[in-house]
Parts: sequence; C-alpha cells; structure tokens
Amino acid sequence: PRILLLNGPNLNLLGKREPETYGYQTLSDIVEHLTDVATEHDIDLRHEQSNAEHELIDHIHAAMGNTDFIIINPAAYTHTSVAIRDALLGAAIPFIEVHLSNVHAREQFRHHSYLSDIAKGVICGLGADGYEFALLSAAKQLKQTNN
Ligand code: DQA
Repeated sequence: PRILLLNGPNLNLLGKREPETYGYQTLSDIVEHLTDVATEHDIDLRHEQSNAEHELIDHIHAAMGNTDFIIINPAAYTHTSVAIRDALLGAAIPFIEVHLSNVHAREQFRHHSYLSDIAKGVICGLGADGYEFALLSAAKQLKQTNN
C-alpha cells in the first residue's frame, strides 16, 4: 500500500515552535520514525510538507492514481481552507486528519475543521503518536479493503 503523509504550514518548525503545545520532536524525527513503522507494515510512505496552500493542493492532485490513503495535518488550513477540502473530495482518496494538539481545548476558531466531516477519522491531542496511530489504522483499513 502507498500512503502519503502531508503536513501543512509551520509544521517544518516542529521542535522549535511552541514546544509545550506541539512537542519537542522535529518533523524529521517524526517522519523517520513513521518510515520505520511503515516499512514494518509493508507500506510505501511518502512525505510532503508545505507552507503554501496551492502546493498542498497540488500534492493531493498528484496523489491521484498512485496513493491508497492520505494522512494529513493541514495545520492552520484546517480552519480556513475550502480549497483543500475540495481537493480531497476531488481526489477521492480516503484520509485521516491528524493534529498534534487537542484543538478542542484551544481557541474557538480551532474547533471547526473544513475536513473532519469528510475524513475517515480524526485524531487530535495525542502529539506525534497521532500520526503513528493514523498510519496503523490506514494500514488496517487497506488490508480490509483488499481482502
Ligand atoms: C495543528 C493545530 C492547528 O490549529 C494549528 O494551526 C497548527 C497545528 C496541530 O497539529 O495541533 O498549525 O494542526
């Protein structure tokens, strides 16, 4: 199975950025660990991070026809982007939405997501573990579809 991990704006600063909220691991630490987990499960994991909305949209388009599942942390675009929602709807690739922090325990404007109602599932508040749980769940869902 081929899974695309997509990280949105400011997540390149992980480790340095508000570590009490987002943790001390860098994005490369997280991706390195996830790649190991993916290998153990025979998953081909690709990763892209961008601070630009149109680049995230282009990555979603480019995934059409070659990706079985997307794991996405859209970061601030979660709360603003109809365009990313439409890209995911258009690509029709199942996805899990992940947030490091518990967005529901934070400012009101983080409580709404433009993606949650069209996601297979949503994980938030579990830090970097959330990505791993999403990966394991995606692997399990893909096995079920292929059987
Ligand atoms: C985030 C939560 C968003 O509200 C915020 O804008 C982010 C990161 C998270 O992973 O907790 O940049 O998606």
